[in-house]
Amino acid sequence: MATAPRIITLSLNSAIDQTITVPGFALDSVNRVVATQTDAGGKGVNVACFLAHVGHAVALAGLLGRDTSALFTRHFAATGVTDITVHVHGATRTNLKIIDPDGGSITDLNFPGPGVSTADVDAVLRSMERAASGGLDWLVLSGSLPAGLPSSIYAELTTWGQKQGARVVLDTSGAPLADALAARPDIIKPNQDELEALVGSPMSDQDAVAAAAGRLVADGIGLVVVSRGPEGAILRDRHSAWLAVPPDVPVASTVGAGDAMVAGLVHAAIRGLPLNETARQATGFALGALGEIGPRLPDPDRIEALARQVTVTPLDVG
Ligand SMILES: Nc1ncnc2c1ncn2[C@@H]1O[C@H](COP(=O)(O)OP(=O)(O)OP(=O)(O)O)[C@@H](O)[C@H]1O
Ligand SMILES: [Mg+2]
Repeated sequence: MATAPRIITLSLNSAIDQTITVPGFALDSVNRVVATQTDAGGKGVNVACFLAHVGHAVALAGLLGRDTSALFTRHFAATGVTDITVHVHGATRTNLKIIDPDGGSITDLNFPGPGVSTADVDAVLRSMERAASGGLDWLVLSGSLPAGLPSSIYAELTTWGQKQGARVVLDTSGAPLADALAARPDIIKPNQDELEALVGSPMSDQDAVAAAAGRLVADGIGLVVVSRGPEGAILRDRHSAWLAVPPDVPVASTVGAGDAMVAGLVHAAIRGLPLNETARQATGFALGALGEIGPRLPDPDRIEALARQVTVTPLDVG
């Protein structure tokens, strides 16, 4: 039997996702909370837990605020993720979602996170070096960077991961994404907004998206996956391009859909699936997350059943 792939996912800007339900939510008045749910979150955390959920051995690296670390520790124990995070002074930031089922509104309040220094990031890198000392197959770099850190960090980590022999997956936006491209990550998964910001122009249709993805592949990115919410995703590598359109499904919450897609891409690559089947699998993961409240996946059989409902078609990109 082949040895299990060694995977590290990185979460430098974790968050506590708190969702509260407030019927008739109004400013300037007393509001009653009827339900509340608190989840350990952040993109790298979600990807790690999703990969562990389908049976992979995953180490989660990154930063957590010491004051709120217990919530994460419990979550890692429950999902089977190996915790190699570095704890810093203060609390991990909270992202508060206020859902008003009567008015149909969703209000987001995103708190600032703890202050982070380059010494903290050095400690994270040392934890990753220790975890990768026996070899590394996959490095997943997910999410935004805490304020104050240079945007070049993902470029440096991409180079570091590839030196360890790992394939590097990057899911971020803005300057950290733009800066990392020169280091040529193996897989990137921008959504369409993130891709438009990267190339500096809006894209009116799927042909424009596929063409922009093709330019990134020509520049040396192995696989470019552009997700487009309910319209699905476009996957492009050096050989082919595919469109994966999800069925019309009820959405319990969109939290973690993109992260589930990233986990599905890694899972498919580990299974050695061709790109059209990768498109189906990754979309199945995303659909699994959409059916759950908070960053959760259903059991693997359900993910497979959802994947079978995805329509995958080749794109003619010349
Ligand atoms: N409303 C929806 N209906 C059906 N499928 C959806 C819907 N929203 C998202 N998806 C699926 O999830 C995938 C990823 O979603 P999306 O493009 O919103 O990612 P994202 O913007 O990166 O999300 P995130 O906020 O998690 O980073 C899509 O490609 C699609 O397959
Ligand atoms: Mg995303």
